[in-house]
Amino acid sequence: MWIDLNEIDKSEPLNRNVQKNEGSKIYSPFDPPEEPLKKEDVSYESMHTLLTYFIDEHQEIRGHIHKFEQAVQDLRKEGFTKPIQACIRDFFECFDQKLIPHTKREEKFLFLKLHDCLIEIGEHSPGSPIQTGVTLLEEEHIGMIQMGALIFNFFGLSSRLKGQEAQLQVLDLAIEKATQLVESLRLHFLREDTVLFPLAQKHLKSHEMTTLLEKMSQTICDKNIL
Ligand SMILES: [Fe+2]
Ligand SMILES: [Fe+2]
Repeated sequence: MWIDLNEIDKSEPLNRNVQKNEGSKIYSPFDPPEEPLKKEDVSYESMHTLLTYFIDEHQEIRGHIHKFEQAVQDLRKEGFTKPIQACIRDFFECFDQKLIPHTKREEKFLFLKLHDCLIEIGEHSPGSPIQTGVTLLEEEHIGMIQMGALIFNFFGLSSRLKGQEAQLQVLDLAIEKATQLVESLRLHFLREDTVLFPLAQKHLKSHEMTTLLEKMSQTICDKNIL
């Protein structure tokens, strides 16, 4: 398959989204947006176990992200050494076995209920389709998974290409996208930890979250048995 590297930014799905949103405000963890992503002041200790379970998973995944970021930086200077290869492999294993299931659990056992609840209490965008803070984070899940798959394929492709120049070009692209992914993941976790989960704590009833937690625990348990 031939990939025109000059055209890739135009055809890659994530960038198409970015281009669609040209002119809109770019959020940063240091410059948090106004509604619907307003920070809520709820401490970790006062959150329901359903929410702290997700926060703890973020913490675990952050460790893998940090090592991956380091490996990607070293890759530019040192090339594919064994430790670098091991770190990259470890990250994609984590991506596949921890991050993707984590996002699916959030969607199934929190986002659905919270989205309905936010609509009920009027915390949503005007007009149609109705959007809440959940909608944005759900879209980020899709973007992150697409970007992860793209980077994985770029790394694989760069090792199979014959010409050194083409190899370096694809590798460069993989490194650039990997750096973007690291930032997106960190920002996403921050938004959930400081905005969405506190919002859930504020608006969902404790017994509703307990029921969701029980259902989620049952699913995890069933998977481990199979
Ligand atoms: Fe998430
Ligand atoms: Fe999350």
